[in-house]
This record gives sequence, C-alpha cells and structure tokens, in this order.
Amino acid sequence: MNAIEIRNLSKSFRGLYALDGLNMTVPVGAIYGFIGENGSGKSTTEKLICGHLVPDGGEIKLFGKNYTDPGVRVRVGALIENAGCFPGSSVYHNLRMQAINLNLEKPDEEIQRVLKIVRMEDNAQLKFKKCSLGMKQRVGIAMALLGDPALLILDEPINGLDADGMRLMREILVDITKNYGCTVLISSHLLGELEKIATHYGIIRQGKMIMEMTAKELEGRARVFVSLKTKDMDGAKTVLKQKFQDVRREEDYLRVYDVEDTESIVEHLIKNGHVVSEIHKNKIGLEEYYIELMSQKEG
Ligand SMILES: Nc1ncnc2c1ncn2[C@@H]1O[C@H](COP(=O)(O)OP(=O)(O)OP(=O)(O)O)[C@@H](O)[C@H]1O
Ligand SMILES: [Mg+2]
Repeated sequence: MNAIEIRNLSKSFRGLYALDGLNMTVPVGAIYGFIGENGSGKSTTEKLICGHLVPDGGEIKLFGKNYTDPGVRVRVGALIENAGCFPGSSVYHNLRMQAINLNLEKPDEEIQRVLKIVRMEDNAQLKFKKCSLGMKQRVGIAMALLGDPALLILDEPINGLDADGMRLMREILVDITKNYGCTVLISSHLLGELEKIATHYGIIRQGKMIMEMTAKELEGRARVFVSLKTKDMDGAKTVLKQKFQDVRREEDYLRVYDVEDTESIVEHLIKNGHVVSEIHKNKIGLEEYYIELMSQKEG
C-alpha cells in the first residue's frame, strides 16, 4: 500500500505553473527524500497534500483514499515553514493547546509520548522563544506527531541545524518510522544528510517528478571510480585512456570510472613512466548523482 499516491497534479500561481503534472508514489513505511532546486515545487506539493492549497487538477490519494477524506486527514501530521507556536508560552503549553484543538482523548499522555519521541521531556517547561533552533524544530515535529499520525510531512526540517541537531533529527525520524510505523515525507537540500536515512527518493524539477527511486536503486546506479594524482596529469590521462573507457580530470584529480581494481591502474601508469602519488577508491553518492542528473536534463 502507498501512503501517498499523486497523479498528474497541477497548481499555478497567477498563470505560472508551480506544479505541472506531478506524479509521486510514497510507500508505507518509507522515509521519502524529496529533492529539488529552489522554486521547483516541493513546498507547494507538501501544502497541497496537507490541504493548505487547492490544486488546479490531478489526484492525491493517501492510504488509498482521496486526500480530502476526513478519515485520512486525521492521519496526517505536518511541519511546513514553522511550528506555529506562541513564543511566550512553554513547550508544554503549546502542545497542550494543540492537543485541545485536536480534541485528543488523553491529551497529557499524548503530550508525554510526543515529548519523549523528540527528546524534549526535560525541556517541557521552557518557553518556546528560549528554545534553540534545533529544539524549535523538534517541538514542531512533536506538534505534528500529536494524535499519532500515520504520515508525517516535513519541509526542510534540518536546515540551519548544527551537526548534533542533525544527528538527533536523524535518530528521531528513524525512530518514528521504525518504532511508530509512521511514513515520512521530507524535503531537503542537504543531500548528504538525507542519504543517511532516506529509503526512497523523488527528484522534482520545474514542477515535474523527473525521477523516483529507492535507496537500493541509487546504490545500484551509483558508479564506482578511482581518483588519483600524478605529477604529469595530462600525460597520465592520455596513458590511462589507452586502457580505460572513462577517464576524466576533476580539479586536482584524475578519475577512472567503473574500475575498482587500483592495482591495474597503478601498474599501467608505472609501465608508462608515471608515478602515482595518491590513489583512492570512491563511489558516487546522492549529491553527485543529483548534480549529474540535473546537468543531463538541462537544455
Ligand atoms: N503563494 C504563492 N504565490 C505565488 N507564487 C508562488 C506561491 N507559492 C509558490 N509560488 C511559486 O511556485 C514555485 C514553486 O515554489 P515552491 O515554494 O513550491 O518551491 P520549493 O521547491 O519549495 O523551493 P525552495 O527550495 O526554495 O523552498 C515558485 O516559482 C514559487 O515562486
Ligand atoms: Mg520550499
């Protein structure tokens, strides 16, 4: 079953298409990394799913039902832009107000549950305005988790966080999916961070989904390469090209693609009078894959 299924979704603002026939499939249990450059339509997609905007056309299904179905609406939690908290009120009080808005049966138990998930049990009495950015983001996630949603939608939740804040956020998101069975849709520019947790990816460009894949598929598509340094880079490049298909100069290094056997490279270079001063095995990660994909689609 899919948590989100979007077909041919369109949305325009003053005659300009922000989304132009977007398709998206997010399986239940996924951490879906939603990637795209500024203005590509990530936030618009998320706002449409949450019902904050009305689409021009297309279909949004959540857990197999139309997204306006009240039964599925209550299963969606979201943090888009900011948490919408009162700065002068405590974390606890803000959660309490939201719990009352949502008409939760056991608000206190539910508040304790979400505070624990976002590792804020010890800071519940802190005024929201005194919270660090990382804490504020976590309070936002706690707000979104009230009522135990099956789908959590997060718009750039790790922007601006320090290394510790990001690590904590990663742990929380994995916890939410693994232990609470929640599906997470997360948009982010920080591909290296996303790569550590995402099980699925969707790449959006100019309002269209240009690629969806699982983390496993990315792994399969990611090319291996060996990077190396020699004194005479141009000479070494010519020599390597005699034996290897794809050899490129990338700044201070030569890259030999689709080869893992460093020995055969070193041997070939030595035989032709080139001394290797540095050599590493590498694999193209999400970031490089994304950049390459974007450059292919240009023009
Ligand atoms: N309320 C609005 N009124 C007019 N235009 C809008 C509105 N919201 C979004 N847009 C436009 O729609 C397009 C998509 O914007 P959106 O915010 O969805 O992109 P994004 O992928 O979230 O970008 P970013 O990475 O900067 O957050 C942009 O061209 C944007 O200017
Ligand atoms: Mg955005």
